[in-house]
Amino acid sequence: MATVASQRSRVDGPYKVTGNARYTADTQLDVVTYGVFATAKVPSGRIKTLEVSLAEQSPGIVKVLTFRNLPKLNKLSSPPAGQTVMPLSDDKIYYEGEPVAMVVGESLEQTVYAASLVKVEFDQVEDSRIELEKNLDQAIPVTVFGPADSLVGNVKDGLAKSEVRVSETYRTSDRHHNAMEPSATIAEWNNGKLTLYDSTQWVWGARMVVATALGIPPEDVRVRSTFLGGGFGSKGWVWPHEILAAAAARVVGRRVKVVLPRSQDYTSHGHQPATEQTVELGASRDGRLLAIRHAAVVPTAIVDHYGEYAALGTRSMYACPAIETIHRAVPLNRPVPTPMRAPADGLSMVGLEIAMDELAVKLGMDPVELRMKNYADKDPTTGKPFSSKKLRECYSQGMERFGWRRRNSKPGSIRDGKDLIGWGMASVIFGTHRGNASARITIEKDASVLIEAGTQEIGTGAYTIMPQIAADVLKISPDKIRIVLGDTTLPETGGTFGSSTTASVGSAVYNASINLKSKLEKLARSPDRSYSKALEESGLGSLSAEGSFSPIEGDYELATFGAVFVEVKVDEDIPIPRVTRCLGVYSAGKIINPKTARSQMIGGMVWGIGQALLEKSVMEPKLGRFLSKNLSGYLVPVNADVPSLEAYFVEETDPIASPIGAKGIGELGAVGIGAAIANAVYHATGKRVRELPIAPEALM
Ligand code: MOS
Repeated sequence: MATVASQRSRVDGPYKVTGNARYTADTQLDVVTYGVFATAKVPSGRIKTLEVSLAEQSPGIVKVLTFRNLPKLNKLSSPPAGQTVMPLSDDKIYYEGEPVAMVVGESLEQTVYAASLVKVEFDQVEDSRIELEKNLDQAIPVTVFGPADSLVGNVKDGLAKSEVRVSETYRTSDRHHNAMEPSATIAEWNNGKLTLYDSTQWVWGARMVVATALGIPPEDVRVRSTFLGGGFGSKGWVWPHEILAAAAARVVGRRVKVVLPRSQDYTSHGHQPATEQTVELGASRDGRLLAIRHAAVVPTAIVDHYGEYAALGTRSMYACPAIETIHRAVPLNRPVPTPMRAPADGLSMVGLEIAMDELAVKLGMDPVELRMKNYADKDPTTGKPFSSKKLRECYSQGMERFGWRRRNSKPGSIRDGKDLIGWGMASVIFGTHRGNASARITIEKDASVLIEAGTQEIGTGAYTIMPQIAADVLKISPDKIRIVLGDTTLPETGGTFGSSTTASVGSAVYNASINLKSKLEKLARSPDRSYSKALEESGLGSLSAEGSFSPIEGDYELATFGAVFVEVKVDEDIPIPRVTRCLGVYSAGKIINPKTARSQMIGGMVWGIGQALLEKSVMEPKLGRFLSKNLSGYLVPVNADVPSLEAYFVEETDPIASPIGAKGIGELGAVGIGAAIANAVYHATGKRVRELPIAPEALM
């Protein structure tokens, strides 16, 4: 039900467009010193000589920290830490861009200059391992979040008896998050207690990591984060600069502020690893899937073995008696990868959904029909039913809205002058993640309401929708309700990742509101007395209630779904694909605010356009570094690359996922678009591209 309140505009919007939103780096504190890193210029080896005296003597410099004088940091686990090898812990180099010294100085300019005076020479003690293909023998199973492999049925037999088969390898590229706001941390010590102003998606993660590394009780660390200018996963786990800001502030006895320069955004808080995915599909002549094997291998780092589950979505997407998924990672002398919107499922749907398009072509079957034919009513790997799933409606509504039935399946059959026009589609899945969360809600005599929850606003709309959830319960205007968040002194919640905040924190806010309402009703005694009147007459200044949410693992699989349809235009002579239409219909539980939800979905689609056509961080194999550590050599979609985007949700509520019926949507929009674009490019040109982003030369 789309009420006026549910269409509420973002309450933080005006702050952001007027420059009044204070991001971490904008935090105004007196007497700050600045921390700047000198970094390794080689991808592996040992520090042979490290000369810091020039830097130390440079004007305004307070301290130069290296592995020689930084007090030892304790070891960590990942997650919450982004890398488990501690920075500045010894003379070994594991990746290019790794900090070798941290210079602390009075002004940013003085400190940046002094960092350039740190002289380091390296011994190349081992051959750098940079390239995935040359090191496949080093592959290890991916185990960050669960089993590396899965198997149901007999894939070998299924493939053998299949009349139609596809067996291809698909590739995606290394990509960087490129949040507009650079990662930043300000560390402040007071009587042995630490406060971090931190650009983080997980204030409790930052607290845990920094407390462990420095050997102090977590209760002595407070972490605050009011706004994030984008995180997309790069601020999800906790990175060396956050630890080093705190460690340096303790050494120098002053506040230390670290703002990563753009170049260090490319080495120092993760990236999405390139994936190599081999997909084998076997089907009967009538299009019934008999076997699927999806094997993915990705590069990872030596400082931590984060690996992508780049075949994960294939475990749950289609009904099929035999499904195998395999996940491997190869530790290399590279910066550590990390989740990036949308990890795992988002990458899986590149390989699987291009392969499904290839199968449809071989079968001479409509791509949507093929998917409908293999619709999974329950999870084909676990056998559990889905808590809710309206993907059929997504396919049919999407076809209808897009005009799909008019499609002539012959490649190159639609033209507009010199432009070849292609239509492609893909299925979408993204697992539903939830976490423990708690919240407190307080009503004052003037009927104003305050929600307190430690969660972070990373740009997805927490400030806007949490008051709506409380307003619905209390039957008051959301404009009377404020939320404070992003602080470890508030009720504990999880990290803002995995698209989990609405379902988890939203449910805690909902439960707190229910508890407050029942307290108020007791106080009011009769339904016609207003809350404020009841509060006043009771002599209470205000009334508070708490609420919490813990996910229950039941007999269901939880996921969100969708169907996406795109149109591309490819000039015959200069084959640069342009997306001209993009339409998605999603099945994602209850939508709390259609307006902010639409923003999430179309924002995700823009990520998909980037994945399909533009985004690629080139790793230079000899230097072992990402070549372009800035936005001039890494292309992200700009307005000219983005056409009309349409996003729709089917009516759905999922009380199994959460008491508010919501599941979470922050990453869903970024799934499927990459494959749909590749499929549309095939339809336009007859050329099958199996590597993203699609290079124009692949279409020559
Ligand atoms: Mo997201 S990659 O879970 O911040």
